[in-house]
Amino acid sequence: LAILLAGASAAAFDLQGHRGARGLSPENTLPAFEKALRTGVATLELDIGMTSDGVLVVSHDPRLNPDITRGPDGTFLTGPGKALTAMTLEELRSFDVGRTRPDSRTAKSFPEQTPVDGTRIPTLEDVFALAERLGAKDVRFNIETKSSPAPDAGTPEPRAFATALAKAIDKAGLGERVTVQSFDWRTLMALKEVSPDLPRVCLTSEGNFDTLQRGKDGGSPWLGGLDVDDFDSVPALVAEAGCTTWSPNFRNLTQPLVEEAQEMELAVVPWTVNETDDMARLIDWGVDGLITDYPDRARTVMVAK
Ligand code: G3P
Ligand code: CA
Repeated sequence: LAILLAGASAAAFDLQGHRGARGLSPENTLPAFEKALRTGVATLELDIGMTSDGVLVVSHDPRLNPDITRGPDGTFLTGPGKALTAMTLEELRSFDVGRTRPDSRTAKSFPEQTPVDGTRIPTLEDVFALAERLGAKDVRFNIETKSSPAPDAGTPEPRAFATALAKAIDKAGLGERVTVQSFDWRTLMALKEVSPDLPRVCLTSEGNFDTLQRGKDGGSPWLGGLDVDDFDSVPALVAEAGCTTWSPNFRNLTQPLVEEAQEMELAVVPWTVNETDDMARLIDWGVDGLITDYPDRARTVMVAK
């Protein structure tokens, strides 16, 4: 482990384990983060929400996801899950997220996942503590705030979210080892005010500039007040938002876009790259890192380069 962690930290290339190592272990769990660390990532990518008692917890979904969540009786949930913001940490911890529903799309997509029954949704602090416990002293954390401008989303209010996150990072003394990412740039704008030195990552879901995050509620409510029509390219928009990194869907990336972004001093770290030929191509284009469910595959590609 020490060798892998040292190797990962020394590498300039930012290999990020998506939701820990979603291809190998149930997502956003301590076993998944441990797997990623033992595989040798530079950064743990993770998603956060907030409970009703204000605790930051690690979950991709703002509501309990029935495909990955079982109740205290061991059966998978049915119907739409309760919002994290409507539950205390204690209530949330009664659910088991260590196994994926066998007939779900997620299970079919990630057949190599090793279940760990009895696994709870971790707090952000739990993940920091795990890295400390495993001696991963240089590993970085790319923390995605899962908020949404949709009125019925039930996600944390952006400023409260950003404030709680900045406080948690400060408390852990990890300001030099985190980035904060979001599709909801309102949270990033709030974070800029609350803690201007924390590096921010602008996520985009479309490379096609004309459709960038449109159609989700009309206009561009995800972009924190910026208007796509005022910019000639996505990298220009990201630079104006004050992000240091642009993370697009890898399918929307082109080599000229990589070059344009890097000329603007933006790092380019696409998500979520799971096939080795895509990894190799993106590395050849000079991306600064990549986010993958399979850090083991990415390491193989990196070693071959
Ligand atoms: O880091 C970006 C990537 O994680 C975004 O996709 O939906 O898995 O959070 P998602
Ligand atoms: Ca994410």
